[in-house]
Amino acid sequence: MIKPIIVGNWKLNGNKIFIRNFFQLLNQFLNPYHKKCTTIITPPILYIPLIQKILFSDKKNFFLGSQNVDIHTFGPFTGEVSPCMLTDIGIKHVIIGHSERRFNHKESNTLIAKKFHILKENKLIPILCIGETKEEKINKKTKEICKKQIDIIFDICGAYAFDNSIIAYEPIWAIGSNHSAKPKEAQYISYFIRNYIKSKITHKIKNFFIQYGGSVTDKNAQELILQNDIDGFLVGGASLKIKEFTKIIEIANM
Ligand code: 13P
Repeated sequence: MIKPIIVGNWKLNGNKIFIRNFFQLLNQFLNPYHKKCTTIITPPILYIPLIQKILFSDKKNFFLGSQNVDIHTFGPFTGEVSPCMLTDIGIKHVIIGHSERRFNHKESNTLIAKKFHILKENKLIPILCIGETKEEKINKKTKEICKKQIDIIFDICGAYAFDNSIIAYEPIWAIGSNHSAKPKEAQYISYFIRNYIKSKITHKIKNFFIQYGGSVTDKNAQELILQNDIDGFLVGGASLKIKEFTKIIEIANM
C-alpha cells in the first residue's frame, strides 16, 4: 500500500498573521496523523524560514516545498531561486511545470525539463505538473499532451528521470474551477501516465507517485483517493482553509 502524498500549493497567498494561525492549528492536527500520509506545503518561498521556526521539529512526514526553481545554481539571474539555495534551507520538494507558470511566465516544455534536470542533479524531488487545456480535452488530445510533457523529460534527463519523483496530473480546466475531473476520468489518465512511463523504461521504477490536482476539496477527496493510480493530491484553494485541508489529510490517512 503506497503512502499518499498531499501537497498544499499556496500559490501567491498568505501573510505572517495567516501563517501563524494556520500552522498553530496544523501543528496540533498533524500529531496523530503523521504516519500514513506525507503532507507538504509550498508557501511563497520568503515565508519558509518563518514557518520553519513555528513548526514543531518532530514532524517526520511533514515538509515545506518550493513553488519554483531556476535552471542556474548562482550568478546574474535577478529574482530567481536556485536549487542549491533550496537545499541550503532544508527544502526537498519543488513544483515545476505548473500551468500558471507555463501560461503566465511562458515556460516551455524544454525549460521545464531543464528545471527537472537540475532538481535531480541536486537530489531534490520534482513535482512535475502536466495536463491539458479544456480545448485539448474537447479535441481528445489529453494523452498526446501528457506524452509530450513526459517525453521531453526522458529526452533531457534519461531513463531514470522519474525515479524519486512525483507527477501531478492537473487538467488545466479543473484548476480553480470548482469542477474537478471525475474520479474515473482522473484514474484513466493517471493509469495511462503510469503505464506510458513504464513502457519507456526497462528498470523497475522506484519512489514514483502520481497526484491528481484541480479543484480537490474535502467533498471529492475520498472518491478520488480510492482510485488505484492516484497516490495523492496537489491542492490549491482548499489548502488555504485549515479545516478543509486537514479533512483532506484525514481522508488520505484512512
Ligand atoms: P485548485 O485546487 O484551487 O483548483 O488549484 C489546483 C492547483 O493548481 C494546485 O497546484
